[in-house]
Amino acid sequence: MSRPKVWIPRRLSEATLERARAHYDLVEEPIDEPAPPARIIEMSALVDAMIPCHSERFTAEVAAALDPRLKIVANHSVGLDHCDLPALRARGIDVTNTPDVLSDATAEIAMLLMLGAARRATEGDRIVRSGAWDSWSPAFMVGKQVSGSRLGIVGMGRVGRSMAQKARGFGMEIHYHNRAELAPDQAKGAIYHADLDEMLGQVDFLSLHCPITPESRNLIDARRLALLPKEAVIVNTARGGLIDEAALLAAIQSGQIAAAGLDCFLVEPGGNPALAGEERIMMLPHIGSATRKTRDAMGYRALDNLDAFFAGKRPRDLVN
Ligand code: DGY
Repeated sequence: MSRPKVWIPRRLSEATLERARAHYDLVEEPIDEPAPPARIIEMSALVDAMIPCHSERFTAEVAAALDPRLKIVANHSVGLDHCDLPALRARGIDVTNTPDVLSDATAEIAMLLMLGAARRATEGDRIVRSGAWDSWSPAFMVGKQVSGSRLGIVGMGRVGRSMAQKARGFGMEIHYHNRAELAPDQAKGAIYHADLDEMLGQVDFLSLHCPITPESRNLIDARRLALLPKEAVIVNTARGGLIDEAALLAAIQSGQIAAAGLDCFLVEPGGNPALAGEERIMMLPHIGSATRKTRDAMGYRALDNLDAFFAGKRPRDLVN
């Protein structure tokens, strides 16, 4: 029997590729640019499956134009906002993602950003690196203490819970807003707020870990920024569109928000040049899941889903 043909449009880890080559006929395109819609449509006539990343966009228009040969989109991402799931289902195409395996790596980056933003890491690094460090005083580079502070988590899924676990190591009091309250063994003492607005007034740090949907777009806007206590710190490792970036910048410049740590932006790649001019914002280029261990695990999870599909079983991470 001939082996299924699989398109891999981005440069995945070597371990992932080795395993994939052993079981599938691959069309490998180790390109560091997102595949454009026309390429996705063109490739759908040549392969049975694809392993794209969150950067390849499967809009309703793309889904409608896909060739019937394509049977499964096995994403190398946990996020699914790049896929119009109902449109892909309407074409009979299965979609899977890679939950669990990137939670710790992403929560590590959220911790890094929380600490870095609170303790002014971007500014400190720049001062030492540029040779501008010429004095020291008790008033020099004073930041906000993380240990013992209150952390609000929006979205207490796998990444949110991993963040909570790490923050407990800093003695933080954990609050969370989520669609549903967690069972006590998962909440581990975290305080539930059914109402996001009500939680905002009670936290010193806010970290976003929810998916982007039409309802959560601009979730943190000027009104909600004003509900946070003065000099709160905001962290976003989920999706850029959750925050109104212009409102965030205005809140930082007015002193309402002390600092922010962002790993994702409305426009990616690239980010937001207006935010880049503000040193109180620590920025990273969407690297939440970028560790060797996690990249391998994401690739393996996508392949587990493909293996199940081609064995005639329901893929573990089928989402549509
Ligand atoms: C994801 O998996 O959704 C991350 O944002 C990118 O790897």
